[in-house]
Amino acid sequence: MTFAARKTSASIPISPLTEAGLADWIKSSSQDLARWITATEFKATPGAVAYLPGEKGDIARVLLGVSSSDISGGGIWDLAGLPSTLPKGRYYLDAILPAEKATVAALGWALGCYRFDRYKKMAKPEAELVLPENADKAEVERMATGIGLVRDLINTPAADLGPADLAEAAKMMARSHKAKVKVIAGKGLLTENYPSVHAVGRAAEQEPRLIDITWGKANAPRVTLVGKGVCFDSGGLDIKPASSMLNMKKDMGGAAQVLGLAHMIMDAKLPVRLRVLVPAVENAISGNAFHPRDILQTRKGLTVEVGNTDAEGRLILSDALTEAASDKPEMIIDFATLTGAARVALGSDVPALFCNDDALADALLSNGTETNDPMWRMPLWPGYKHFLSSTVADISSTGSAPNGGAITAALFLEHFVEPDIPWAHIDLMAFNNSARPGRPEGGEAQGIRGIYAMLKKRYG
Ligand code: BES
Ligand code: MN
Ligand code: ZN
Repeated sequence: MTFAARKTSASIPISPLTEAGLADWIKSSSQDLARWITATEFKATPGAVAYLPGEKGDIARVLLGVSSSDISGGGIWDLAGLPSTLPKGRYYLDAILPAEKATVAALGWALGCYRFDRYKKMAKPEAELVLPENADKAEVERMATGIGLVRDLINTPAADLGPADLAEAAKMMARSHKAKVKVIAGKGLLTENYPSVHAVGRAAEQEPRLIDITWGKANAPRVTLVGKGVCFDSGGLDIKPASSMLNMKKDMGGAAQVLGLAHMIMDAKLPVRLRVLVPAVENAISGNAFHPRDILQTRKGLTVEVGNTDAEGRLILSDALTEAASDKPEMIIDFATLTGAARVALGSDVPALFCNDDALADALLSNGTETNDPMWRMPLWPGYKHFLSSTVADISSTGSAPNGGAITAALFLEHFVEPDIPWAHIDLMAFNNSARPGRPEGGEAQGIRGIYAMLKKRYG
């Protein structure tokens, strides 16, 4: 796919250099080259590229600015701009990296080759990279495929990715790993007791669904992933203004993360019993749409008064989390594009992590930092629980306070997980508002590289 099999005599070396390392490099090179570097004002800032001319007017070498000499830290994105930048040709990394870092560098290149070209012809990168020495090709491909799946699912417009299409995509991915898939659709959600998923999704043209994937040995440690799959969020009767609705095809971004992560876990054959639960709906407007102040039944048996139909994600997640907790897994991790408030707090690049277990939270945060896939912990603040009280139902779906919306949403979800099951809730953006090297504008994987690293350490 993205990598060339072997180096040829015509292959062009890429020398990674830090800003500090450039000075040494200049000292050890010829006067002409030193002058060239100075003349072109190449400073080896991360991602910057300098071409060194050969005697016959060819490119003899590429200098690449990197954030650290062993491609750690910011490393993953250091090479990511190259596929779009380098002229046609075969290149190799002229540095020996330890296995893990070589793999990360190669993954950056692979992610830089991603194009969402379903609706528009786009030039494919013509530069090829010889797989860096020590890099684990299978690992690079499984992560690039998982992340590519996340991006494709989010980028696909709602017209082509409704609940039925999302279920189809989940089935395709699951079947490629011989996982078991069960999809409960439409009225079946009522008979099988997923009343909230049904209530939120019933007004849409495509029926709401609960996608349930299981894989792995029955007696292996249980890991359950849950993803918010709102294929389009109009806000419902509490309709969103146009500017807020514009990007709501991405409201299944949580579902996309768990499907991409599930691919990575299953492809790597991690010795876990994996379960993936995705409530898939469209929050649409029609005569049978749910209303503000409706009182919904939930799978758990708690009644919920709807404060705002635009707080739909927590409703569908409540039923999915109840089911997730029912077989007592070792951990539950949910991903959801749940609140604007989490974005106000942390911006679009840093997902908010809520967790009822400090050891799990610490493992998630440290692995996120190590893999340059950050998250930031926010509190399940008990003092705000009373904001969710309702006079007519067990709880309200929305907080009565104007602020702290990401916390009240997380506290709402907490009602549906058992306190003795380690549970992490990740409230994320799942989208790049603008392009950076290797990270085009559009759908993005967030948090799953770090979680995959954690699971590999723990179970691998
Ligand atoms: N999907 C949105 C949250 C969202 C908005 C995520 C923008 C990322 C970017 C969610 O369903 C929603 O509408 N939440 C409301 C909740 C409110 C009505 C309590 C919000 O955040 O405003
Ligand atoms: Mn909403
Ligand atoms: Zn939503």
